[in-house]
Order: sequence, then C-alpha cells, then structure tokens
Amino acid sequence: MSHLDDPKQHEALIKDAADSVREKVGDVPKILVVAGSGLGKFGESVEDAKSVSYDELRHFPQSTVVGHAGRLVWGKVGGKPVIVMSGRKHVYEGVDVRETVIPLRALLSLGVETVILSNAAGSVNRLFTPGDLMLINDHINNQFRNPLIGANLDSIGPRFPDMSAPYDPELMELARSTARDLGITLQEGTYLASTGPTYETQAEVQMFRSMTDAVGMSTVPENLVAVHAGARVLGISVITNSLVLKSDVVTTHEEVMETGKLVGEKFCQLVAGIIERL
Ligand code: HPA
Repeated sequence: MSHLDDPKQHEALIKDAADSVREKVGDVPKILVVAGSGLGKFGESVEDAKSVSYDELRHFPQSTVVGHAGRLVWGKVGGKPVIVMSGRKHVYEGVDVRETVIPLRALLSLGVETVILSNAAGSVNRLFTPGDLMLINDHINNQFRNPLIGANLDSIGPRFPDMSAPYDPELMELARSTARDLGITLQEGTYLASTGPTYETQAEVQMFRSMTDAVGMSTVPENLVAVHAGARVLGISVITNSLVLKSDVVTTHEEVMETGKLVGEKFCQLVAGIIERL
C-alpha cells in the first residue's frame, strides 16, 4: 500500500510540490520543456535564467542518472516565458511511476498548458541515423504501467482519458513548419517506451521494428498525465543510436550521451523556433 493509493494524499502531495514551486518561482510560465538525457544544454540556452535544484523543491525526486541535471530553470526562450525541467526521474530508478510524474503534475496544476517532451531514443527505423531529430506522432506504452492506474484524481481529469491524439496535431504541424523554415531535417514516427534500464535484445529489436520507429525509457508516463490534465503535448526524440544499422549491436549510455550532446545545438534551435511561433 502506497500513500499514493489514497487520492486525498496523492492530491495533497501534488499540491505541496506545487506550493514549493510557487515559493521559488512565483508565477509559472505556461510553456514547459522537459529536457531529456544529454539535452541539459537546453536549460543553459534559457535567457534571463533563474534556476533551483530539485533538492530544494518538495517531492521533486532527483535523478540518479549521469546526464540529468535535476534543476528547474525558468526565463525566456524564443522571446516567451518558459520553464524547463532539466532532468527527470525514470521508472528504472526503482520508484512508482506515479512518483516520477509528481513534478509535472505540480507544474500542470500551476497553469502549464503546453508541454514539450524530449528524450534520447534508439531507432529501429532503418531510415533514421544517430543525430536525427524525430517528431513523435504517436506512442506505444510498453512499460506495462501507467501513472493513471489507481483512484482517479477527478479534480485533474477523467477516469478514462481519450488517447486518439496524444500529441497535439497543431503543435506537430508547427514543429514541421518550423523545422522547414530553419532548414532542420525532422524525422517523424512512433515512440515506444520500455522500462529499461537494459537496452534491447536482438529479438526485442526485431519485434519493435514492426511496431515503432524509436525506443526509449521515458516520455510516455508524462504524456499520459499531461493529456489527462488537458494540456497539449509535443514530443521530440533525439535519435542517439540506431538499434538496426550497425554491425556491432552494442549500445552504451556513453554513446547515447555523446550523440545527445552533439545534437544539442540543433535541438535547442528547433525548440526555440517552435516556442517563438507558438
Ligand atoms: N533503447 C532504449 N532507450 C534508449 C535507447 C535505446 O536504444 N537509446 C536511448 N535511450
């Protein structure tokens, strides 16, 4: 039995997390960017930036993973007020999936309306190469857990949320046109979330090839709670490694981090361009 099984306690926890954000941040911007593995650079690209460590906020679990800063950063991007979660907690770190999304739910309760989720992902689409950016146009929840399982938080959203368009069509179109304007190649496809922390076996890669374009260990739980709360979501994957193109099939965290860093600049440019046009 977890304290999160009691909806009153669950809601109180989200409110307490939100209160701690309000104490440090004041008015929370309506646009949130969640910067994934190796994309900490995005937090550094914020103008007039202020930041606070997750350690100083209540119920913001620090990530134990190298490459995740664990800071909330706010300021301006593309001329607009933006808040950035630089680093996130993953289910493979051994926590209840509901714990991992408390920070996001706190920010949503404080008025965030547009959520831009990013991640590092491995591609199983043969047309993608490491260093590509991929617009997520749909997802598969292969984590076999869902942060909305348990008593529904009726104050936030419905018991059975529709998932026919988990990534906002208008935001996707904006991402495509922004990429075109900026001369950035933007691939597009489905993101499948696994729990990790293991990378895929060769048999899993074969199976996923028929199911999806890219595989990662995050993003889906966040998408689910954001859609539940009525926010609009955009998702962008940085393809850090190909699970199908190389002869040597080993995947390492270092490889994932290194490509993330190399593509960071392009990612920042695209996201800033999207925000400017929002
Ligand atoms: N698999 C799962 N998650 C990932 C990968 C991968 O190949 N690359 C980056 N995150």
